[in-house]
Amino acid sequence: RIAVLAYSGGLDTSCCLKLLEDKYGYKVVSVCVDVGQPEEEIKEVEEKAKKLGVLKHYTIDAKEEFVKDYIFKAIKANAMYEGYPLSTALARPLIAYKVIEVAKEVGAEAVAHGCTGKGNDQFRFETTIRIKAPDLKIIAPIRDLNLTRVEEIEYAKEKGIPIPTESKKYSIDENLWGRSIEGSELENPDFVPPEEIYAWTKNPVEDKEEEIVEIKFEKGVPVAINGEKLNPVDLIKKANEIAGRHGIGRIDIMEDRIIGLKSRENYECPGAVLLLTAHKALEQLVLTRDELRFKEIVDSIYGELIYKGLWFDPLREDLDAFIDKTQERVTGTVKVKLFGGTARVVGRESPYALYSKEMVSFDEKDVDQRELAGMVKYHGLQAMLYEMVKKRK
Ligand code: ARG
Ligand code: SIN
Repeated sequence: RIAVLAYSGGLDTSCCLKLLEDKYGYKVVSVCVDVGQPEEEIKEVEEKAKKLGVLKHYTIDAKEEFVKDYIFKAIKANAMYEGYPLSTALARPLIAYKVIEVAKEVGAEAVAHGCTGKGNDQFRFETTIRIKAPDLKIIAPIRDLNLTRVEEIEYAKEKGIPIPTESKKYSIDENLWGRSIEGSELENPDFVPPEEIYAWTKNPVEDKEEEIVEIKFEKGVPVAINGEKLNPVDLIKKANEIAGRHGIGRIDIMEDRIIGLKSRENYECPGAVLLLTAHKALEQLVLTRDELRFKEIVDSIYGELIYKGLWFDPLREDLDAFIDKTQERVTGTVKVKLFGGTARVVGRESPYALYSKEMVSFDEKDVDQRELAGMVKYHGLQAMLYEMVKKRK
């Protein structure tokens, strides 16, 4: 009997690995899906898995798929949830999908994850598994055994699992779209995050020089930075690097989790903030007022689907159809000024711009101002009628 474990190398999943053998009687195959974690970490995870005695360990490079099929869709949808660019949330369905593929390959009976029963990730992993592989058994040892972190550390010591050092006291999840930092003192919403929780962004107060960066989009998707065409993965990395050196994308929010718990969350998403800001600015140039208004509703539902782990819901595909249609014109270049933690749009151009300088300029006669007098006269007609009715009473 084999169980395939989504293995990150952290405390939760390391305990799961041993528990699956110990308490559930499985042989364990571990999978680490590379969605842009630090390279050293990927190797460490493999070594750790082998040391803990897995049957086999798989490292699956899913970076390109993550960017093309997930991040790019999220950009087109301006996907956010309560101010969070959904970095962790977006990668979960892909990770789950890759774990399913391995499970099929090795003929596993079950798949396992290390999520607690308090968070969002349990929904994202399990929903994907139930949708895509309903025959696989799902095991969540940490939740099953109702383990606390202290109990996990106790068990880890017993089993020779390396326990997190003081510098690793936070629960960090990292992929190309951003970092999520939780736990320890950060659980107190009033505790000011120390500088050490950040890895991709420079302290904004240390920023010395502003920089204007040019992002080129084709059909809603970024394709070049400062005139340099980049492949999808390199483009996201570059966006992180440039925005990171100006301290952009530090986010500290109270978040409403799926189950209703409020939690304090810290994120570091420099590239996401830069690219989403630029993308929105381009949409403002090329889409109509009504398209923008309607799309805002679509976008917010899209973001919520990602947050809730419903990536494979048919509604997501339906919304993609609408979004892709709007994105046919989202081609052009946006200039963003980066300084001291803020990314501010300072220029935009597109062959599809609905903007007409000839019409809007005070120096031109393309619109005959006199014709507007009639339109203005009846603007607010219903409010004028309302006042008349009030006076009659
Ligand atoms: N609250 C965030 C989310 O729901 C972050 C979860 C981070 N996960 C972690 N294992 N640290 O996406
Ligand atoms: C967990 O609780 O397992 C991690 C955080 C989350 O799922 O939101």
